Amino acid sequence: MPDPYWYKDAIIYEAHVRAFFDSNNDGIGDFPGLTSKLDYLQGLGINALWLLPFYPSPLRDDGYDIADFEGIHPSYGTIQDFERFMDEAHKRGIRVITELVINHTSDQHPWFQASRRAPAGSPERDFYVWSETNQKYQGVRIIFTDTETSNWSWDDSAKAYYWHRFFHHQPDLNFDNPRVLDAVMKTMRFWIDRGVDGLRLDAVPYLIEREGTICENLEETHGILRQIRRALDARYGDRMLIAEANQWPADVRPYFGEGDECHMAFHFPLMPRMFMALRQEDRHPITEILRQTPDIPENCQWGLFLRNHDELTLEMVTDEERDYMYQAYAADPRMRINVGIRRRLAPLVDNSRRRIELLTSLLFSFPGTPVIYYGDEIGMGDNIYLGDRNGVRTPMQWAGDRNGGFSRADPARLYAPLIMDAVYGYQGINVEAQERAPYSLLNWMKRLIALRKQYKVFGRGTLEFLAAPNRKILAYVRRYEDELVLCVANLSRTVQPVELDLSAFKGMTPVELLGLTEFPRIGDLPYFLTLAGNGFYWFRLQQTPSAITAQRPPETTVAQEVVPDALPAFFMGVAWDTLLDGNVRTLIERESLAPFLQRQRWFGGKARTLRSARFVDWGVLRKGTHPIFVAIVQADYKDGGREQYFVPLAIVSGAEADAVLAGAPHLAVARVTGARKGLVVDGTADDRMAQALLEALDRQESFRTKRAAARMRRTSAYDAVRGQGALAPRRTGAEQSNTSIVLGDRLIVKLFRRVESAPNPDVEIGEQLTTRTTFRRAPRVAAYLEYEPSGEPIGHLLIAHEFVAAQKDGWNHALGCSGGERRSFTSPYRPIRLRRPSCRSRSRATTSRGWWRTRWRSSSRRASW
Ligand code: NOJ
Ligand code: CA
Repeated sequence: MPDPYWYKDAIIYEAHVRAFFDSNNDGIGDFPGLTSKLDYLQGLGINALWLLPFYPSPLRDDGYDIADFEGIHPSYGTIQDFERFMDEAHKRGIRVITELVINHTSDQHPWFQASRRAPAGSPERDFYVWSETNQKYQGVRIIFTDTETSNWSWDDSAKAYYWHRFFHHQPDLNFDNPRVLDAVMKTMRFWIDRGVDGLRLDAVPYLIEREGTICENLEETHGILRQIRRALDARYGDRMLIAEANQWPADVRPYFGEGDECHMAFHFPLMPRMFMALRQEDRHPITEILRQTPDIPENCQWGLFLRNHDELTLEMVTDEERDYMYQAYAADPRMRINVGIRRRLAPLVDNSRRRIELLTSLLFSFPGTPVIYYGDEIGMGDNIYLGDRNGVRTPMQWAGDRNGGFSRADPARLYAPLIMDAVYGYQGINVEAQERAPYSLLNWMKRLIALRKQYKVFGRGTLEFLAAPNRKILAYVRRYEDELVLCVANLSRTVQPVELDLSAFKGMTPVELLGLTEFPRIGDLPYFLTLAGNGFYWFRLQQTPSAITAQRPPETTVAQEVVPDALPAFFMGVAWDTLLDGNVRTLIERESLAPFLQRQRWFGGKARTLRSARFVDWGVLRKGTHPIFVAIVQADYKDGGREQYFVPLAIVSGAEADAVLAGAPHLAVARVTGARKGLVVDGTADDRMAQALLEALDRQESFRTKRAAARMRRTSAYDAVRGQGALAPRRTGAEQSNTSIVLGDRLIVKLFRRVESAPNPDVEIGEQLTTRTTFRRAPRVAAYLEYEPSGEPIGHLLIAHEFVAAQKDGWNHALGCSGGERRSFTSPYRPIRLRRPSCRSRSRATTSRGWWRTRWRSSSRRASW
């Protein structure tokens, strides 16, 4: 069931097809190029993509001058390319927002060409706003002050003046003519029928003109919008309209109507005030504009942005504020255009990483849906020597190669030159470099996006400012249902102290969200914090953690015997190696993956509602007739959380398949049919996987998956522990949150099912004990599998320990002990005491991550390491 409010939780990425990626090397980005970069956008974590106009156009206003509403500009591809792009975006969970430019067309549009030639009073002429004099509607402001001197232009053929609020080559449509609205609605249906999820209504305040008014925000214009909304809702359930109304908050409010006009509207006045507050090191501009922001209907949302494809507009500030902004952010007159500043985010803040992070944290934590402008996630620069607003529309910087990896055309042929200066040039600022550096801006953005998506409160919650005595500090609380988040931002470039009155939250514990660090519990005194220059915190306020109790995970939810009948079958050719490379992967995701996860003892999300499960990474461990794969599956939950699991897969056939279905049906994922018949199973059901792992350990193999490098690592104990010769695999009965396989009673290989992007403590501690100490009271670590997704920290997928035979497995033994008074049990080595982290513990352990670190101590002497 599609969520009709998806736009409230969206993270929108704004991009221009022309600027993103050039697939055919003609120097111009295109739809096939954009499609090929969808994996990048998915990896970034955004879930909505807003595309600037891509329709046939003379491109005198970068495509906002449209010559055909229902086509694709030939430089960008064909309608088939567009449809393929839509499919691929949707497959990745990315919604698409396009432009519905209804106020005006290009003067090259056939409607205008017909209009100027048709006789006065004819239906064709009536499509645009004509007048015999240029004296009507005096007092209406000019928007493009740098290029236009009047809103009227003379047409020789019509022998009349036509009305235009923007460039003179962009005549305004006449919305007093109902046929114009019909034509616009037809265009709307044309794109929505092709899967478009949202439409940005460009220049929406200017639809209707009336003498004696400023011709903006007129009631008749709202009437038009209500008709558009009614037509949309009548036919489609979950599509969205976003208003581009560059107006004061009180004048934007009517664009939401009673929830019956636009779903979203950009918050134009907030944007310059974020920059102003930063430069003035004073929160007042922000608190003031948000205080003046009216409430909006339940089904509506603000669209927030720092930068976009236009100038940083200063129309919605006072004259004094405008002077201040020009002087602070646009000292060079070339940086100014019309009533604004044509610069990108990074240059605006003098390339200060802290300021970029701070502004982004505000963008992501104020009430509304954030929009990221392409390239700002890597800190791209601008070129103020290009005309109009083209300086902020240069090609995306993918790599340090020729043309920044954007195109292989001759540099002279590119639609615009790359940024090449020493600070922002593509040689240093590019996606490839930043994917490789774990602490790059790009990787920071990914983390922040992932974090924001875990909490609905950011998109949906209320906002309350806290009156901190220090005005350089902006502190606010966001609330939604049981989510409570405290945000504190330091607008000053120097370190600042602050005392916050958090008495309303007495007894709660702030947990910093980026590092999951618990802060001291809130007590009676004002809460004291220090913030680094331009630093910020997001805290979840949580009740003090409750005591941890041991629980048996619920048994599998599906009766085992129904599994074989319920398994879907998918067609495949002979080459089973390609299982995960194409369509079958998508089919498995759609039909089998979620039920498979629900059947597994190790799947920790059984109590949560699963929204989707999909493969986010995969690779082939062994090719051949019965291939073996390693795969990472991501579970996304309704509550906004997500987890990743390590799921090795194998394909078995014949008697082996029958044996799995009879003995361990929960391990079956799906059937394959077509050229050969087989059963896709969890890798642990196939002895070949255990053998392949052993070979990989023996040879210390490294291999690549789609997104990561994986490396088998052996410790110095490997040879002694492993011994010589073949080792027969045996599955252990005790399957818990991990899965273990015993190899020849010498090695026990434990697959870590939950994938964490951090070293696994078993590996870290075990390796230290094995190789750096003489401590021999824990089984030695012989090997492990490292997993390093590009740009993320190393994690671990499995560990191989020395096998120690015992009568009982440790889990059952521990469960038997932990209910009563006893807090210790006997290991095969020496007594070990388990200590629960106390409620006030400051250890890194948190209950929220679903696990707690066992602090352990041998009763014998401490190891020295
Ligand atoms: C608003 C768009 O954002 C801008 O880029 C364009 O120039 C004007 N509409 C006029 O079409
Ligand atoms: Ca191209």
